[in-house]
Amino acid sequence: MSFRPFLALVLVLSLGAQPPRGLVVSQERLASEAGAQVLREGGSAVDAAVATAFALAVVHPAAGNLGGGGFLLSRTTRGQASFIDFREAAPASAHPRMWLKADGTYDKAKHHDSLASVGVPGTVSGLREAWKREGRLPWARLLKPAIHLARTGFVLTDNQAAGLAEQLPAFIRHAPTLAQFSRKGEPLRAGDRLVQLDLARTLRRLAKDWTDFYRGRTAALIVRDMTANGGPITAADLRGYRPVRREPLRGTYRGLELLAAPPPSSGGQVLIESLNLLESFDLKAAGPGSPMAVHLAAEALRRAFADRAQFLGDPAFNSGIPLAHLLSKAYAAELRATIRPDRASTSDPSRFTWEPDRPHTTHLSVLDREGNAVSLTYTLEESYGLKRIVPGAGFLLNNELGDFNAVPGLTDATGRIGTPPNLAWPAQRPLSSMCPVVLVKDGAVVMVSGSPGGRTIPATVLATVLNVVDFGLDARAAVDAPRIHHQWLPDRIQVEADLPAATRAALKAMGHTLKEVPKQGCAQVILVRNGHAEGAADTKRWSDSGVAVE
Ligand code: DON
Repeated sequence: MSFRPFLALVLVLSLGAQPPRGLVVSQERLASEAGAQVLREGGSAVDAAVATAFALAVVHPAAGNLGGGGFLLSRTTRGQASFIDFREAAPASAHPRMWLKADGTYDKAKHHDSLASVGVPGTVSGLREAWKREGRLPWARLLKPAIHLARTGFVLTDNQAAGLAEQLPAFIRHAPTLAQFSRKGEPLRAGDRLVQLDLARTLRRLAKDWTDFYRGRTAALIVRDMTANGGPITAADLRGYRPVRREPLRGTYRGLELLAAPPPSSGGQVLIESLNLLESFDLKAAGPGSPMAVHLAAEALRRAFADRAQFLGDPAFNSGIPLAHLLSKAYAAELRATIRPDRASTSDPSRFTWEPDRPHTTHLSVLDREGNAVSLTYTLEESYGLKRIVPGAGFLLNNELGDFNAVPGLTDATGRIGTPPNLAWPAQRPLSSMCPVVLVKDGAVVMVSGSPGGRTIPATVLATVLNVVDFGLDARAAVDAPRIHHQWLPDRIQVEADLPAATRAALKAMGHTLKEVPKQGCAQVILVRNGHAEGAADTKRWSDSGVAVE
């Protein structure tokens, strides 16, 4: 044997002899690194997810947050799956017509861009709840990297600086936000250091006592801001907030077991229902990005989104969500019969039956060396949420209540939904599309995925699953492939700019209307293949995404 092959063999054998290493995939390298360091110190997947999430609140303020909410799905190697709903809740004064003006017309600014659009934040309590059961390292250890990054600052990348500069006109409307995210009103530039001292102080308080957010100084700062500016969130709203442990939704797809987000997210319903519909089609033969594969995925999503509009909302306010039916293979067969292979269906806002003929949520995926997995998506709703820092507390408020239906009774072709399940009632949680997912095969986690993107989220996650399961792509290729989306209304397929021209032409010939977007979503995927874990962070529009290895 010559020297080189011999060296290669030694290398392969020695690599093979190494214990498996954990992975953290998130939208920012520094945050993933914070999580990976926790894994190196013997922390669990949940510990790493908590440390990454707190670090994202510092280095990715567009979506990483303390003032927002989200969902954390975890699965242990022993097969225990758990789901923590830390979605924001409407305050006690909420009511379904709260976004209408006195003359009954819809007030979009109030719904999406006012203190009335802020939900009671869930993130801190949700992360604490996860740590309580599945954390190994001390709570304060997990906040340490975030505190350090906030206190000493971090050097802005091109992306981070561009994101902040883009929002400067919005930040100017609120002095504390402008002060935190600019240099005296001038844009920060790549290479500048962003120091967030108020945020560091808040994080330090939370490291000592997480309840500070809900009943301590942090709560008092939130309430003071609300009171001074006519916002509805009270001390009682904050004290009353609780994360909810729920059963994950379960489905199967081509022999794989799926764990996904239950209501108040629609992510799991849309994903599992779409996969059920697609299961009997030979997508592999059609090929990735082919007209038939896109057509079928769009038709599946169209139907799942119509069911979402009709049935989905906070389960505490909707006792009759027919999930078992919607996720059954029998229902999928019924619905499948309404898909024509050669022709687009039409979406009609007045009915939900079928004739046979949209950076600013963020996702992180973690897999530790033992095979425990965490899939966490959390958000402020829009980029930088309400773009309002809580004065003195250094974190941004969400505008999540914009996810409630706008006008009761008004469901129209533009995609506005007015169906009853998702109206704003006190303490109700707005319907989400966030879709953290874990796939299991033969008892072991084989894939962790999730993405931001509002209503496009389930479609982005669906694409990653189909790319792996049907098309056999590796994690990198599964994240890079062109994506599509359909949400029932408006009746059109959203396509990424790199979907082949021939596929678009064929889809138009089938009767589909297409809307081109440059990019859709920002998926963070971990895939286990042949016993090896590989991670792919989405670089479609975010080139600093981070894969960190334990
Ligand atoms: O919960 C939801 O579905 C939305 N509030 C998520 C918002 C979002 O993904 C915006 N990002 N691109």
